[in-house]
Amino acid sequence: MARILVTGAGSGLGFGAARELAEDGHTVIGHVRSLDRAGELREVLGDAAVLIPAELSDESEVRELAARVAEAGGVDAVIHNAGVIDGPGILPVNVVAPYVLTALVPAARHVYLSSGMHRGGHPRLDGLDWSGRRATASYSDSKLMVTALAAAVPRLRPGVFSNAVDPGWVPTRMGGRSAPDDLELGHRTQVWLAEGEDPATRTSGYWHHQRQQRPHPAAADVAFQDALVAALREHTGLAL
Ligand SMILES: NC(=O)c1ccc[n+]([C@@H]2O[C@H](COP(=O)([O-])OP(=O)(O)OC[C@H]3O[C@@H](n4cnc5c(N)ncnc54)[C@H](OP(=O)(O)O)[C@@H]3O)[C@@H](O)[C@H]2O)c1
Repeated sequence: MARILVTGAGSGLGFGAARELAEDGHTVIGHVRSLDRAGELREVLGDAAVLIPAELSDESEVRELAARVAEAGGVDAVIHNAGVIDGPGILPVNVVAPYVLTALVPAARHVYLSSGMHRGGHPRLDGLDWSGRRATASYSDSKLMVTALAAAVPRLRPGVFSNAVDPGWVPTRMGGRSAPDDLELGHRTQVWLAEGEDPATRTSGYWHHQRQQRPHPAAADVAFQDALVAALREHTGLAL
């Protein structure tokens, strides 16, 4: 059985993934924005659950989250699930926080929530405000970046399996009630990759419903990956 950190585990796809992992017998470390709203998660994970609060748009809180995961005994896998669809938090929450957690939380498997919308993203890194004081990137841009980050990690961390997942358009707070795809299927692929029991998961790629797809060409472009990682290293002072 594995120990798995899920960010944004208090609601939506993160909650579904945490519940499914717990049902499969794994130990879930649940990141939540606020413990006050974590009652339902505590219920499904049980009293012994490790729940760690952090505001992911604040880099110091992301570092504190990484320290608390280490204190709790570390993890085998991370599902970088938390995300926002608009506002100045787009870069800090969708890109910087997964980068910082990748740098500071050793794990054999990293799973990053991408989106089919990454295909509309622009592979440009100039003029970005990584700190989020100003909104300088779109949701699609951020998901293209996190997809490229996922593709860079196995080159920089040999032996680590690193995958990006398009969960489909599913009915969560972000997806909206009328989203047409299946919520359960929306978290199945992340869970399957994080568990890492199926030999088919011992790879790195871009997935939708347990099938590999070809992402936006920039995500597979080593020059774009390296430029992205260099920009994030410069902003955070952390190397992968
Ligand atoms: N739903 C879809 O159709 C869809 C499609 C493609 C990709 N995705 C991706 O799937 C992931 C999960 O999305 P979802 O649909 O489950 O969205 P959601 O229902 O809005 O949940 C987002 C989660 O992220 C957490 N979060 C957001 N901002 C945060 C911050 N600043 N600090 C800490 N936690 C924060 C939220 O915590 P709070 O509850 O406290 O706000 C919540 O737990 C996202 O990365 C999203 O981009 C979703």
